[in-house]
Amino acid sequence: MTTYQLAVIPGDGVGTEVIPEGLKVLRRAGEVTGRFDIATRDFPWSCQWYLEHGAMMPPDGVDQLRDSDAVYLGAVGFPGVPDHVSLWGLLLPIRQGFDLYINLRPAQLLEGIAGPLRDRGPADIDMLCIRENTEGEYVGLGGRFHQGRPEETVLQTSLFTRRGVERVVRYAFDRALERKHTLASATKSNALNYTAVFWDEVVAEVGRDYPAVEVTTYHVDALAARMITAPDTLDVIVASNLFGDILTDIGGALQGSLGLPASANLNPERIYPSLFEPVHGSAPRRAGQGVANPMATIWAGAMLLDHIGEPEAGRLVMDALRAVAKNGPRTKDLGGTATTREVGDAIAARIGSTG
Ligand code: NAD
Ligand code: IPM
Ligand code: MN
Repeated sequence: MTTYQLAVIPGDGVGTEVIPEGLKVLRRAGEVTGRFDIATRDFPWSCQWYLEHGAMMPPDGVDQLRDSDAVYLGAVGFPGVPDHVSLWGLLLPIRQGFDLYINLRPAQLLEGIAGPLRDRGPADIDMLCIRENTEGEYVGLGGRFHQGRPEETVLQTSLFTRRGVERVVRYAFDRALERKHTLASATKSNALNYTAVFWDEVVAEVGRDYPAVEVTTYHVDALAARMITAPDTLDVIVASNLFGDILTDIGGALQGSLGLPASANLNPERIYPSLFEPVHGSAPRRAGQGVANPMATIWAGAMLLDHIGEPEAGRLVMDALRAVAKNGPRTKDLGGTATTREVGDAIAARIGSTG
């Protein structure tokens, strides 16, 4: 029996409601497989913590997470603290500090869930988006000059490195080899004549090592439309940080609700712990009512199990999640009336049960 150490950051809003359900399910998967239990260290870092301490986390916050097997995060951000302060105070420094350069985001329509597209079902919508997660448009370089004056000047710089693009693109080709041998790369080289042209060159270069993968480059605007009009033509997608962010909310919409998509922020070399979270945010207007969908967080939990070396448990969690997606109970975003806890309980109860 192994004990895994998880650092848990429920964060803000519905984050604090969905994380307990995720932990419940992970623990149940450990029991059913008889392989592991979960020890947690809880970190109350959040916008509430900011209002009390003047920071989103302590100065050595990222270091405090370092010894964990993985980080499990709910959501960050709440009215009262500007979003750029809360996100640059907590989530983004962890992604950068732990070099979590792969952000893996499956977009799969589950059996039993009504997607938004007419005549499209689970057979048509099954993509895996690989989002660069440490640089690009999110590098956080820039400044504001002459603030508030007529000559005010604002600069937000993108930064793409050969190492940074190569490693995420290579990772995407590897995933394509395991799936349908196709890769869609998001570009915008018609307008972004430096960064996106460079991105495309690296995709072409790395592609030479993968003759078995058919790679297609799409301008990101057209790719966004294609996700809606021809989702069945897309499988693995690789995108820069901002493009991947936007495309994966479209992916969530294709799944029927933002309560579903999960996100694995990976440091593939395992020098640092990886971080698992839902794609969605703190949903402030939905918070405090116990009605948020916990499925995205539970799905992220299944990805966590895969990553720490418990793929059988991960599979059981996904089987249980699929069964509940199909048969209910469902939360309001999926047309049901169940509470967050009822859905968490139902998934936990299905783990290991057949049929
Ligand atoms: P959001 O994802 O919180 O909400 C978008 C929509 O999806 C809303 O209609 C919301 O009610 C719905 N939704 C989200 N999660 C749901 C769930 N589990 N069940 C049912 N419905 C759900 O995005 P937003 O409104 O743009 O952002 C709200 C706050 O969250 C902001 O502070 C933002 O910066 C932050 N945010 C944080 C993260 C993160 O921590 N990873 C991600 C996205 C947004
Ligand atoms: C996500 C979120 C974050 C991002 C925000 C909250 C900074 O939208 O994880 O998709 O853009 O990466
Ligand atoms: Mn996002």
